Amino acid sequence: MRITAVEMNALRRAQNIFLPAFKGEPLEKAAFFQFLPSPMRAVAKKFLKEEFTGEDGETKLLWTPRGKNTRIAFFGLGDQKAWNERKAFLIPRRMVQFAKREKIKEFTLPISDVFGTEENRAARVATNAILASYDFNRYKETPKDGWPKVKNITLAVEKNLVRGVEQKITEGIIIGEETNRARDLANTPGGDMTPKLLASEAKRVGKEWNIPVTIFDAKKMKALGMGGVLGVAQGSTEPPQFIIMEYKGGHKDQKPLVLVGKGVTFDTGGLNIKPDQYIYEMHMDMSGGAAVIHGIAAIARLKLPINAVGIVPAVENMPSGSSYRPGDLLKTMSGKTIEVLNTDAEGRVILSDALWYGWKHFKPGLMVDFATLTGAAHVAVGNFMSAVFAKKKETEDLLRDVGAASGDYVWPFPLWDEYLADIKGTFGDLSNIAKSDRYGGAIHGAKFLEQFTGDADWAHIDIAPKMTTIDSEFLSKGASGVGVRFIVELAKRYVDKIPNSKS
Ligand code: BES
Ligand code: MN
Ligand code: ZN
Repeated sequence: MRITAVEMNALRRAQNIFLPAFKGEPLEKAAFFQFLPSPMRAVAKKFLKEEFTGEDGETKLLWTPRGKNTRIAFFGLGDQKAWNERKAFLIPRRMVQFAKREKIKEFTLPISDVFGTEENRAARVATNAILASYDFNRYKETPKDGWPKVKNITLAVEKNLVRGVEQKITEGIIIGEETNRARDLANTPGGDMTPKLLASEAKRVGKEWNIPVTIFDAKKMKALGMGGVLGVAQGSTEPPQFIIMEYKGGHKDQKPLVLVGKGVTFDTGGLNIKPDQYIYEMHMDMSGGAAVIHGIAAIARLKLPINAVGIVPAVENMPSGSSYRPGDLLKTMSGKTIEVLNTDAEGRVILSDALWYGWKHFKPGLMVDFATLTGAAHVAVGNFMSAVFAKKKETEDLLRDVGAASGDYVWPFPLWDEYLADIKGTFGDLSNIAKSDRYGGAIHGAKFLEQFTGDADWAHIDIAPKMTTIDSEFLSKGASGVGVRFIVELAKRYVDKIPNSKS
């Protein structure tokens, strides 16, 4: 897909014009309206009065007298009073989905305030258009006339803004592309996306954007004492991989932003095997890892002036004769032992080593992990956001803002010490599930992770609720790519909050 910017008066020549409109909005007073060819203007006026109400979700296509290729599509936005920023993310997606369905290959879109502020809207429109154009059909036969695709989107803006908008579009495209690549990784079935393959994808990405990538194999992990990763991995014939990507865009003494992603390439639950409706989609249990790999790629492509490290422990969680068992006591790199009470709480077990390594080795200015950690988080927040757990209030606020600005929404949960008692082990230092009951399961997971973060400024994002797309967000079925947009926005803000050089 190509996205370009033109000045408003190019609307005169546009073949397909897409216009968002509020209920009862006098569109004919809008600035761009005067740029429509006059016969079109007259028909559009009549159409707006008689055919289009502007209800939320209403989409109407008007053929104009200028010839068979000239259409205006109106997209109802509902009541202007009920408008909010979250809805703004969805309009470009809705437009692209409509175009795909109607086999409209290009359209021109006058950019206005409904898409956001002058500062953020061009990149946002670009990103969301790219996200909506994505389909995972790599495993399907291509139809004779190809998959429906929008080839060109033209953003019409005021003349003096064209150049600036073009730059923002480029940025938005990068973010959209990297999010879609994360979706590709997560959508790929478990048999084709093993820890080894995930690691080689990270290598490939590293080569492409000139980011050094290091992979630890099982032997190296043994030498480092990573008993958590090794414990979960031991039931699978697929060997574990520990992926490290190091982007250096800042001064060499500058403390890095460390991003950690859960990379369970398939989660059967292990010996505590999942029932069939829960095992479905568990090839996406590496979504956090995918977000980190492509988040780092996006940071590199945008040349952000920071140091950023991506860490992805990659394993497959399988039941077999060699699996880790309930009751096993695993010695992690931190020295703490984990008493395995449930082999399906494997994410926190592998992350224990990854977080410890991230803190010890890189001395981060901020460390954030992304993990499809608990069904409990999904129960708690529903379908529209992820859950965030931060040690510091200031970081919690920052991440909430990052969520709102990126569209990867997060909502804060507590890390109270009261919850620690529930995960104290009987025979080991910590148990990997609460001994009490399952209530507050997402908090128990987060509290467990916290024990492996030393004194790092750290936050955990449980992305299980946003692992897959939902119908109302105008994205194709499957992985959502959650986390990539968040990481880019976080990296941009990290520039202003980097603590002084390594102590
Ligand atoms: N990967 C799952 C969590 C998950 C479930 C992510 C559904 C996305 C969609 C995780 O490893 C898991 O199995 N968690 C358990 C924890 C429990 C055993 C404490 C869960 O949520 O049931
Ligand atoms: Mn599990
Ligand atoms: Zn899992």
